[in-house]
Amino acid sequence: MIEKIKALLEEVREFNATSLEQVEELRIRLLSKKGEIPSLFKDFKSVDPSERKEVGRQLNILKQEAVKKLAAIKSGLEQEALNKKMSDKKPDTTMPARFNPIGSRHPLSVVRNRINGIFERIGFVISEGPEIEDDWHNFSALNFPEEHPARDMQDTFFVSKNPDIALRTHTSSVQVRVMENQKPPIRTISPGRVFRNEAISARAHCIFHQVEGLYIDEGVSFADMKQCLLYFAREMFGESTRIRLRPSFFPFTEPSAEMDVSCNICGGPGCTICKYSGWIEVMGCGMVDPNVLENCGIDSRKYSGYAFGMGIERIAMNLYQIKDLRMFFENDLRFLRQFRSAI
Ligand code: DAH
Repeated sequence: MIEKIKALLEEVREFNATSLEQVEELRIRLLSKKGEIPSLFKDFKSVDPSERKEVGRQLNILKQEAVKKLAAIKSGLEQEALNKKMSDKKPDTTMPARFNPIGSRHPLSVVRNRINGIFERIGFVISEGPEIEDDWHNFSALNFPEEHPARDMQDTFFVSKNPDIALRTHTSSVQVRVMENQKPPIRTISPGRVFRNEAISARAHCIFHQVEGLYIDEGVSFADMKQCLLYFAREMFGESTRIRLRPSFFPFTEPSAEMDVSCNICGGPGCTICKYSGWIEVMGCGMVDPNVLENCGIDSRKYSGYAFGMGIERIAMNLYQIKDLRMFFENDLRFLRQFRSAI
């Protein structure tokens, strides 16, 4: 029996075929129910116990090799046939061209890229910081007093039970990181995602995006800030845009202001977009409070600077007349496709 097995093993190893019929023929002869290998397994019962181990081993090798070899030759032949079929086929030039759908950038990315570009052209560099922040970078270094309501659980998402670690509530945290790590002159903008524990509505969301700006050098004045923001407003909303600064309050700037731009829809007389005021609020800004400079290791007697922060959603809503902020987050293709031509 061992000779028979060896002879078959040799046959299997040398076997080659040029057609699927030849493969099938061998398969039937060796492996089908009444084939040679199953009948060897039947005869196995009568093998002398002393030889059983070796015969069994050889028999198993024979079966495995036969199955493997036949499958390999079969798939090789099938592939060859497929290749031949493909190369014989003439291209059908009347077929409609394949449609390659191109995605579109999200409107928030479009607006963020535009804002970045406007400031990069006048020497600002982009810097980014972590979305999970500590109390120092998000609040303390920015001159928020301990008991300031913005630290309240109402606004801030804390990460775990540690009151020191939270999701950043604004990108102003990045200005702290930049000032701690760089020496003036500093000119940077920081776009990014921010988080606030707010109820979701047409005008508010718990996740949104901001761009923060910071300029620190010797002798930087409020007038420099005004000119920089006027340049931004005209690049963003059109050449004839006017700006107005209203006094405001932020813990990290002194003096602080809120900047409005003239309504880009009605140009001033009033419409539903600007609620008949002629103005649209776009950002907070101000001169960096000397306390903040000192907290970040910058000599406030030598250096001064301005900072500003704006919401990307708010600018995008204005630019594209989007009335509901939730549209940015729903990813409805009918909405997103409208921005296909935007870059
Ligand atoms: N961090 C402020 C906010 O989230 C926005 C802001 C206001 C940033 C004034 C500034 C600034 O840098 O000077 O509402």
